[in-house]
Amino acid sequence: MATSICSKEDLERMIDDVRLYTKDGKVADYIPALGKADPGAVACSLFFEDGNVLTAGDKEQRFTLQSVSKIITLALALMDRGEEEVFSRVGMEPTGDPFNSISKLETMIPSKPLNPMINAGALAVTNMLHGNTSQEKLGRLLAFVHDLTDNTDITYSEEVAKSEYETADLNRSLCYFMKQHGVIKGDVEELLDLYTKQCAIEVNCLDLAKIGYVIGNQGKDPCTGRQIVPLHIARIVKTFMVTCGMYNASGEFAIRVGIPAKSGVSGAVLGAVPFGVGIGIYSPSLDEKGNSMAGMKLLETISKRFDLSIF
Ligand code: DON
Repeated sequence: MATSICSKEDLERMIDDVRLYTKDGKVADYIPALGKADPGAVACSLFFEDGNVLTAGDKEQRFTLQSVSKIITLALALMDRGEEEVFSRVGMEPTGDPFNSISKLETMIPSKPLNPMINAGALAVTNMLHGNTSQEKLGRLLAFVHDLTDNTDITYSEEVAKSEYETADLNRSLCYFMKQHGVIKGDVEELLDLYTKQCAIEVNCLDLAKIGYVIGNQGKDPCTGRQIVPLHIARIVKTFMVTCGMYNASGEFAIRVGIPAKSGVSGAVLGAVPFGVGIGIYSPSLDEKGNSMAGMKLLETISKRFDLSIF
């Protein structure tokens, strides 16, 4: 897709049109530090195949990846361990349940999480990252994010990581349950420390759009053509984004929008369009399923306007 298809004024107008939806949602506060976000903020970046970028709205905003990080750790774990091992510990099926649900873990036999996008599955994936120490694992993850974004300044927010670590008792209980069933190995507190830092990686919309571009476009660096993510892994990640990326709203989202996407409770939404555009959106006011209200609407508008549905 060429940059000329959309002007900055077009994007500003689309953002202004969805801004009213921010009033219908609520900023996440179960991670206390996220509660400080401005509920009215909306920002969007589009990254095109010619390397051009359009950014509009509250573009100075920085935010944490939260669940968007799950697609990055999934790609890295698949590169580290291969499909067979990863999918022996986490499934491939949508749940229809909220992202933090514990219920299916007990009813499924064998007791492995249904997919890598729900918290239980993401914790199991993070547990598989290569590295001798947590520090080394985090360093490898950040280096991968630097590759995907071409931005070596990216790090994690200590404030958000600490705030989640101190309040993550539901995730803690998921970990202990999975450890008992052999899905998770090693020290649970160390895993939570790594997971909360992973979720607290701080970016802006442009960083998000670049990651979306790479995943949408067969894993290749838009500037150098280097294969950052192997093609078959980019495909797996995109497929999970379609089937589980918006949790128990993924079906309706596929019909209305049709773009492989991943949301996070910070209000981040990443879109991976396979026709040469990556989309990064931020708007922290969420619906009851934990998806950005204005963010989902904006992605729907962009998809319809430029005919981006993959279906
Ligand atoms: O584990 C958690 O609850 C958060 N760090 C991430 C959850 C999340 O972003 C769900 N997305 N909509």
